[in-house]
Amino acid sequence: MASVTYENVTKSFGAVEVIKGVDLNIQDGELVVFVGPSGCGKSTLLRMIAGLETATSGTLKIGDRKVNDVPPKERDIAMVFQNYALYPHMTVAENISFGLKLRGMSKTERREAAQKAATVLGIENLLDRKPKELSGGQRQRVAMGRAIVRDPAVFLMDEPLSNLDAKLRTQMRVEIRKMQHRLGTTTIYVTHDQVEAMTLADRIAVLEGGYVRQFGTPDELYHNPANKFVAGFLGSPAINFLPANLQGATLELPGGEKVKLASERLPGARDGEQVEVAVRPENIHIQRDSATLPEGWASWQAEVSLVEALGSENLAYTRMGEHEVTAKITDNTSIREGDTCTFAFELSRAHLFHSSDGTLLSSGAKA
Ligand SMILES: Nc1ncnc2c1ncn2[C@@H]1O[C@H](COP(=O)(O)OP(=O)(O)O)[C@@H](O)[C@H]1O
Ligand SMILES: [Mg+2]
Repeated sequence: MASVTYENVTKSFGAVEVIKGVDLNIQDGELVVFVGPSGCGKSTLLRMIAGLETATSGTLKIGDRKVNDVPPKERDIAMVFQNYALYPHMTVAENISFGLKLRGMSKTERREAAQKAATVLGIENLLDRKPKELSGGQRQRVAMGRAIVRDPAVFLMDEPLSNLDAKLRTQMRVEIRKMQHRLGTTTIYVTHDQVEAMTLADRIAVLEGGYVRQFGTPDELYHNPANKFVAGFLGSPAINFLPANLQGATLELPGGEKVKLASERLPGARDGEQVEVAVRPENIHIQRDSATLPEGWASWQAEVSLVEALGSENLAYTRMGEHEVTAKITDNTSIREGDTCTFAFELSRAHLFHSSDGTLLSSGAKA
């Protein structure tokens, strides 16, 4: 097992810089997820640790060892990809332990190692089957098994579940989490799926355009996003952004609602500045009685344009001024399309970002 370190790492393909100075310190035994939209550089970042791409500048370390110039085979890593090629003529056991044969292990030792890995993955009863006799999920487990038997210092996984259907993906996600806990092997897992990132990771690195926008626990990123990008990327349904104008300590929200902010919320804000008020759907409530709201709440009246009933909760789609707003209603009050309701949120729960560059003005309190 080992830590993994990126120190001011860049990568260019020709004249195009796709990784723009990344610093990350992944601890021994940690499961870190790289997440971000397609093309942001996740695979490139992973492949540099694997040795499949060379860093243009900066330092890559596995443990205390600088690996920039170490050949992939000598890095003590095992990779699992989206497209795992199993040998069709070999059994599951042979597929899992094939790499060990190359290392000169005896047949008995290999069988034992395959058995152990298969047990971790719950496929110990499939060892003598051929790949064509397996489901997609079972095949993916065999590919994982192949990585496990190598007992590497680091697992590198690049979208390993993308080829599976949604239900199986959820199930395998849980399996990977359990496996990683059991083995305690440092793991870097790449995905574009924020739900996968949130549920799997000890810590998440959110990437955008070759930059790490934030690195932290799922809880930190969700409740204390460092910028507008991270706030908008994590969470489903997505956080609501309400463009507002700041006059002194007064926010003018879309539709004209004016609310006063606590002055400690506004360090470094410029008078007359445009800001983004970011509110999670679960922090927007429907106010049933017309009793006056406590201080520090913003409220407005609007029509519910659509309701999505998800069983344990309802999503209510509405507007504030011209802006679409989604509210997640978890109490069992009935709401119907066409109803006019009073929507409200507590200002202290909203994050404020500068509209100009998306940087944080002040963070909202955790719900
Ligand atoms: N071998 C390559 N040659 C040129 N450009 C590449 C190469 N590999 C990746 N890129 C570019 O680098 C950027 C990051 O790619 P990648 O790391 O694969 O993104 P992600 O995995 O986040 O989708 C993309 O713009 C991609 O087109
Ligand atoms: Mg990729």
